[in-house]
Amino acid sequence: MAITPEERLSLSYSETFQDHRNVHGIFTRMRAEKPVAWCPEPWGGPGFWSITKYDDIQFVSKNPTLFSSDQKLGGITLPSNEMIRNRRKSEGREILKEAPQEFSQFQGGSSMITMDPPAHVQSRRVVAPGFTPQKLDDLTPRIRKRAREILNRIEGEDDIEFIQTVAAELPIQMLAELFDIDQDVRHKLFEWSNIIIGGDDPDIVLSAEQVRTAFIELGTFAMQTYEKRKQEPGEDLISMLVHTEVNGSPMSIGDYLSAMILLVVAGNETTRNSISGGVLALSQNPRERQKLLDDPALISSAVDEIIRWVHPVIYMRRTVKEDSLIGGQAVKKGDKLALWYMSGNRDEEKWDESFTFDVSRKGPRHLSFGYGEHLCIGWRLAEIQLTVIMEELLARFPNITVVGDVNRMRSNFLNSIKTMQVSLQ
Ligand code: HEM
Repeated sequence: MAITPEERLSLSYSETFQDHRNVHGIFTRMRAEKPVAWCPEPWGGPGFWSITKYDDIQFVSKNPTLFSSDQKLGGITLPSNEMIRNRRKSEGREILKEAPQEFSQFQGGSSMITMDPPAHVQSRRVVAPGFTPQKLDDLTPRIRKRAREILNRIEGEDDIEFIQTVAAELPIQMLAELFDIDQDVRHKLFEWSNIIIGGDDPDIVLSAEQVRTAFIELGTFAMQTYEKRKQEPGEDLISMLVHTEVNGSPMSIGDYLSAMILLVVAGNETTRNSISGGVLALSQNPRERQKLLDDPALISSAVDEIIRWVHPVIYMRRTVKEDSLIGGQAVKKGDKLALWYMSGNRDEEKWDESFTFDVSRKGPRHLSFGYGEHLCIGWRLAEIQLTVIMEELLARFPNITVVGDVNRMRSNFLNSIKTMQVSLQ
């Protein structure tokens, strides 16, 4: 069945992604019929190319000089501010008419994820020392200790709401460690990141005031910590941002704040969703769960498979800088591209039975951490967290099972579960 214009249009609507089976159906046909497919956009958007095959996503990701992440060209997400305003207007939701004063400090800055080389490389180098193999080795026992403490709190319970109680806890506790800040602030990190990322979901973002407050609180926290680290540098990520010079100058406040937002969102939401998505996948595939219980040495391939299966980030955008060919399709300077990791991770040419969840799977690396220039800087940290929490969970609660409905965030960008009830016994 050919892909219809409505299906192409539907990829812009976050509601479409609350039904994964339907979206996978569209992407499967796109990979077969039109792997680089033009998709119209609502809310006055110009449209974009959907890149759905594994090899094409890698090709785009490793050519940042042809395909840009630059904020000035639109950055890494599809809708422009204008489109977001039009959407909210059409839904009768409140919109920010103009940025309040406190907001202005966030403007004009960019973080590494929305930069191209050579600026990207310099900016990435600033925090890279926080993610060396040695640093991660040092962190691993602390991750295990924290994972055990989180699970101690649910010992003896029958049913729990898994997201807030377990999945969210480990990544935000680790983020607080990486920042070397008071652990109590972690609840705020959770709230700010939900609001910043959940703008399309009316359950999460109710009003413009809520978004404004989140930015002001995060900005105030970031600036207070900036001042503290200036006086007393440490070994943490914030000290690296405050003290490392880029091209002989300290990072601008705008860039510092953008880096803080990136780390708070990227280091938290995605890892949480791989944990919750992993428990869901094991629960829906009891034979695979049993395989892992029988042979704990499968944990490494199981973690890879969970991250392939869950694709916590659904897509990233690029903008074409020079007329080019992608998979034989001509694209023009200025065109928008969506790199659908969700689709690339099911590419039938790369994996046998790509729609089967298989904890012993071997094969090429999934695309969930991106590829090339912007490959996720926290990929190994995320893998370690997922490995440790899965080992600890399965050792204590081998029968953990999702019960009832899974409540997904309304988003076509992050594959996020808002609430999920599990039975532990
Ligand atoms: C399962 C968990 C995670 C997933 C699926 C994930 C996914 C991604 C993806 C797809 C990108 C590439 C963006 C692009 O190509 O445009 C990325 C970049 C990034 N991620 Fe992650 N991430 C995860 C965990 C983390 C963690 C734990 C941290 C830090 C604490 C982190 C920090 C970053 C940063 C700073 C970048 C930007 C890198 C650059 O632009 O060079 N991520 N991540």
